[in-house]
Amino acid sequence: MLFRQTGRFLVVDAPAKLNLFLEVLGKRSDGFHELETVMVPVGLHDRLAFTEDSSKEVKLCCFGAGTGPRSHAGGTAEIPSGRANLVVQAANLIRDSAGIKRGVRINLLKRIPVAAGLAGGSSDAAATLVALNRLWDLELGASQLQGFAERLGSDVAFFLKSSPAVCRGRGELVEPFRLPLRMHFVIARPKTGLSTADVFRHCQPAEHPVRAARLVDALENGRLDQAVRVFRNSLQPPAEQLNSEVKQLRKTFSKLPVLAHMMTGSGTSYFGVCTSRKQAQHVAARIRSLNIGRVFAAESRP
Ligand code: C5P
Repeated sequence: MLFRQTGRFLVVDAPAKLNLFLEVLGKRSDGFHELETVMVPVGLHDRLAFTEDSSKEVKLCCFGAGTGPRSHAGGTAEIPSGRANLVVQAANLIRDSAGIKRGVRINLLKRIPVAAGLAGGSSDAAATLVALNRLWDLELGASQLQGFAERLGSDVAFFLKSSPAVCRGRGELVEPFRLPLRMHFVIARPKTGLSTADVFRHCQPAEHPVRAARLVDALENGRLDQAVRVFRNSLQPPAEQLNSEVKQLRKTFSKLPVLAHMMTGSGTSYFGVCTSRKQAQHVAARIRSLNIGRVFAAESRP
């Protein structure tokens, strides 16, 4: 996570993620699902700026995409700014656990669509944990931050490192791997979103689960041609049942010149893999002309 000091603000970019593989291995007694998933951070990010606040409160202000008339597709209109926001929960958790009474103002520039399978809220929460550890000189170690991340959500721990990883358990057990290639994606978030809980409620754990090892092997060896053949997301069938826009995106992407295409996470965002940045921008422009939601060209981050 790269921080910079801009005036009195500590600034950090919080990336979105894409799932290149997601298998549901079983349902657990705590209501969560046991997963094996491969996630990569991408260069589509929110920006957070933190500064001390004399009020002794946690104050969050959201700005950014989604405030205009075409804002319905996961824009800031859907983002809570109070206690329901994971950023506020992360700040309160770290503040209460450390037993400190200091205030903070957090400006959140939102670019990552919400309810989209891109984990923007989880990434913002992880950035908040790391930033406040610095701002307040708490000197919390990796295992304490991991503990906070697990309490905030299944995807939060992945963003503490923000590097390509296989994630297991309910998603919080993170095993990073090296990705020697830069992958070029086009990402489309349709006009409506999906609730993660709803999608999991409608999924069926695999009878004969596929494992991520072949994909990780191909990626570590820089073999994109082999990697795209073993992409998988077992949450896509239930998401398509719950939201016809996901099915429509599959049909749209199947007519485009992409190496592979798939839904990410629990949706509704859908992505295609392109051969170059230029091609990703070209494909993004084609999808944008269809007016089906928000469209981004983005690259994997190492
Ligand atoms: O952990 P997070 O808050 O992101 O999860 C949201 C919801 O998604 C959970 O309450 C649960 O219903 C579902 N979920 C699941 N299995 C997972 C992750 C999430 O069933 N591994």
